[in-house]
Formats: sequence, structure tokens, C-alpha cells
Amino acid sequence: MTFEDKIQLLLDSRAKARLGGGQSRIDAQHAKGKLTARERIELLLDEGSFEEFDMFVRHRCTDFEMQKQTFLSDGVITGYGTIDGRLVYVFSQDFTVFGGSLSETFAKKICKVMDMAMKAGAPLIGINDSGGARIQEGVQSLAGYAEIFQRNIMASGVIPQISAIFGPCAGGAVYSPALTDFIMMSKENSYMFVTGPKVVKTVTNEDVTDDKLGGAMVHASKSGVTHFVCETEQEGLAMIRKLLSYLPQNNLEEVAPMVCTDPIDRLDDDLNTIIPDNPNKPYDVKEVINALVDNGEFLEVHRYFAQNLVVGFARFNGISVGIVANQPAVFAGVLDINASRKGARFVRFCDAFNIPLITLVDVPGFLPGTTQEYGGIIIHGAKFLFAYGEATVPKITITLRKSYGGAHCVMSSKQLRGDINYAWPSAEIAVMGASGAIEVLYARQAKEISDPEERAKFIADKVKEYENKFANPYNAAQYGYIDDVIEPRNTRFRIIRALQSLATKKDMNPLKKHDNIPL
Ligand code: HXC
Repeated sequence: MTFEDKIQLLLDSRAKARLGGGQSRIDAQHAKGKLTARERIELLLDEGSFEEFDMFVRHRCTDFEMQKQTFLSDGVITGYGTIDGRLVYVFSQDFTVFGGSLSETFAKKICKVMDMAMKAGAPLIGINDSGGARIQEGVQSLAGYAEIFQRNIMASGVIPQISAIFGPCAGGAVYSPALTDFIMMSKENSYMFVTGPKVVKTVTNEDVTDDKLGGAMVHASKSGVTHFVCETEQEGLAMIRKLLSYLPQNNLEEVAPMVCTDPIDRLDDDLNTIIPDNPNKPYDVKEVINALVDNGEFLEVHRYFAQNLVVGFARFNGISVGIVANQPAVFAGVLDINASRKGARFVRFCDAFNIPLITLVDVPGFLPGTTQEYGGIIIHGAKFLFAYGEATVPKITITLRKSYGGAHCVMSSKQLRGDINYAWPSAEIAVMGASGAIEVLYARQAKEISDPEERAKFIADKVKEYENKFANPYNAAQYGYIDDVIEPRNTRFRIIRALQSLATKKDMNPLKKHDNIPL
């Protein structure tokens, strides 16, 4: 074979590998409205930046006459490239080869890029579209999954790990995405479940479709498994690029600041009127967030899940921050099991990756009731509390309105090492709301008043008295629990100044193997 022939052989092999399972399967993939594994990588990474590994890998299975059916790349495309010029490692499962199912060699390819991402300290993005374990390989395939899980666990808190689900993801295969930091699911064509509809029917006699059991909106709104949903794969990949812009490369780095085009001392007069006079009236905390952050840009995480708490990424003076805000427009912003889980996970992510936390508080307390108690609100609420208490990143808290009881302590209070705690003049920081407090304190005296009108007046007077004394920020400020009471329209500037002052903050937790967060 001449040198030229050898080069031609290489080019032919590459062309063959790029066809994956063949043109007809690529056409079938497109007919379902899905992109191929390589097309997805092209859209995700900066143009021309992808460097592929292991194109010549083939599976080694000989059972079921599998040696007669081999494909170059063996069903997963792996390598590295850049996103906005920053290094990332990727794998993208190729449904056109054995339905993207995972073989021993397929898993080895993924493990290789995971190891390289850890060594380089660069994010890892996995695109999932797979029929699960390669049935012909059996136990080899299970071992491959476990090798990946172990690496997901070791990488957790070291490099950001992001999973896109653009097709089936079922059985044990769901656990690799579940171990990563963020999951993105496409509304069409993607689903995740531990057991599919057929098994569900056999075991529980329930009739359920793929979509109803594990579609994107189910996991976005009910289970909270997915953090993001996208209408199209193109939109999903663009969102992953955007998400990465808020994250550092690894836990030892900080996010490089962006150039800020929004004046840092911009006053927003609307914020001086946003809180309704009636404390029971809702308002949309997202309006507050949009008014405060650079150019009103906010990337919401878990948008459809536990909407009584809003979390997401934004920037102040170009500095990436995580925002956690009670949402008075949904269930009065009360903390329940799901909001606690959502908040805890987000706070821990930000703390692991050196992203300062900005907390906007308007919380009437924890949600009462048997559903919550039986579901373990005590443990889940403790998670959120734990997450804030262990976080050592800069923590800035702004109390907008209510901050009652245990929920007050949870929401980045001074005693949980909140660094700078400001309150608006509308803040009400107390053990509980006025009417609840008076019911407890004056129940006996009220009972003794026989005339209903007189009793109502007695209670109303006591409520007013309590409100005057406690439904304000000054009682907390007098003890130094609130560092200052600030004018709402000036909040952006005050947050930016606070962030600047905390840029060199250092705080440590005691050395330990790991903590025992109430899971
Ligand atoms: C080998 C597989 C495969 C698998 C699909 N294929 N899944 N090959 N192992 N797990 C092949 C098909 O034979 C077919 O090959 C091609 O991929 C496309 O599959 P279709 O069925 O034609 O596609 P579609 O109709 O879109 O259905 C997709 C699907 C279905 C829903 C994923 O293929 C399916 O149910 N597959 C089996 C899923 C499963 O039971 N997996 C094991 C789960 S257990 P040709 O040659 O015709 O193109 C598991 C344990 C993991 O994953 C544990 C980890 C700890």
C-alpha cells in the first residue's frame, strides 16, 4: 500500500465513521425530528473547535454473532472543543448505532473523556439518546455504567457536569444524568424513567405513556428531575452554552467577569412602589430580579418546579451570581418540601463553584399540613438550612417583606453566616405574622370578652400593636441582625458594592471527611 493509499484509507474510514449506523438510520433519526450525535456536537461547540477521540473504536462482543455487526465509533462520539473559547469535554450518544446502547467499549470512551475533563479541570457535557444497556453484552454493559457513575461522583463539585436528554434514557441509565449538576430535556422525543410503561402496567396495572411517565414537562414540573426544558434541540444546546457562561471551569477557579454595559448606580424608581400596602397581596419577585440584575438578564433554573421559590443565574457588574428568591406570587412564597429541595441543591451548587449568593426574602414560613409533615418537611427544610449554613461563598441577603419564623433563619440569615444583610423599609422580621401571634398570646383574654364587637376590636388593637412593634425591619436592625435598611430603588448599587467588598472574602468549614447533610 502506498503512502497515498494509506492516507486515502484514513479518509475513507473517517467518512464511514461519520455515517454512524448508516444513511437510512440517519434519515430515520431526522424523520423523528432529532439531530444526529455529531450534528448536536457541532451546534454545541464553537465552530470548528471539536477534536474527536476514538473514532476507530469497535465493540468486542461475539455473542449473538455481533462480530458481524460492528460500526466505527461504536455508538458514541467523544472529544473536546470550546464554548465561547473555553475548553469543554463532550460525549454524544449515537442512536443510529444499536440505538445508542451502551457497550463495554462505549463506556470506556465516555470514561476516557471524563478522566481528561477532570485532569484538565474543564466542564463535561453529555448528550444522551440511548436504548440503555447493550442487550447483547449484558454484564459488561452494567459494569460500564457503574464505571461512569463512579466518575460522575468523583467529578461532582470539581467540574461542572451537564446532561442533555434528547431521546430515550431509561433504566439504570438515568442515574448518570441524575448524578450531574444540571439536566436539560427536549420537549419532543425525550423521556427518562427507571421502568417503562410496559413494566408499570405489569406491576401496578397503570396505563401510562412514555411522555406522561417521564416526558420533559413531567420532570420539569412534577419530579424536578430536569432543570431545563427546550422546545428544540437547537434551543437546548444554545441554553447549555449560556448556562456555562455563568459557571467557572472548575471548583478552584472563579467565573471570569463579563464587561458590564448596565450602569452600576442605576436607580429603579419602580422598586419603591412594587410592594403592595396590603401585606397579603402578592407581587412577582421576578420583576424585582429583572430590575436589579445586569440588563435584566436572568437564567432561571427549575423554572416549572416549586415555583414558590425562584432560583437562577444572573450578573451584577459583570460578576456571575446565584439568585434565590421567595416568590410571593405562588402560594405566598411559602417554603415546602419541593422548594426546600430545589433551594438546597442550587445553594450547594453555587457554593461548590465559588458563585456568590444573592437571597431575596419574602417568606411567610413553612407550609403546614399532614402532606408536608408525612413527606418529611423537617428533613427537607433542614437540607435548605444546612446548605446555607455550610456555604462559604459571599452571601448577600435582602429582605423585601416577610421573614417569619424558621424560614427567616433558613433564608441566609445573619446567624447562618450571611455576610451582608439588608432590608427594605417594608420588611417584617418576626417570629410569626401579627394575627397568628395575637391568637396565641391573647386567646384567653379574647375569650373572656363576651361582646363579639368588643372582642374584635380588642384583637384588632393588639394586632396593630404587634405590627407596630415587630412588622418592620428596625427591631432586627437594632440588634445588628440587619446591617442596614435601604431604599429599594438603590438596591442594585448596594448589592454591587457589597459584592465588591466581599471579593476577597475567606471563610472555612472544619476539616472532615464529609458532612452528613439530612438527605
Ligand atoms: C441493543 C438496541 C437496544 C439495546 C435499541 N436497540 N435498544 N440494541 N441494545 N438496548 C437497537 C434496535 O435493535 C434497533 O436496531 C435500533 O437500536 C433502534 O431501535 P428501535 O427499537 O427500532 O427504535 P425505537 O422504535 O425508536 O425504540 C427505541 C427504544 C427501543 C424505545 C429505546 O429500542 C427499546 O425499547 N429498546 C430496548 C430498551 C431496553 O430494554 N434496554 C435495556 C434496559 S436495561 P436496528 O438494527 O433495527 O436499527 C438497562 C440497564 C442499565 O439499560 C443499568 C445501568 C446500571
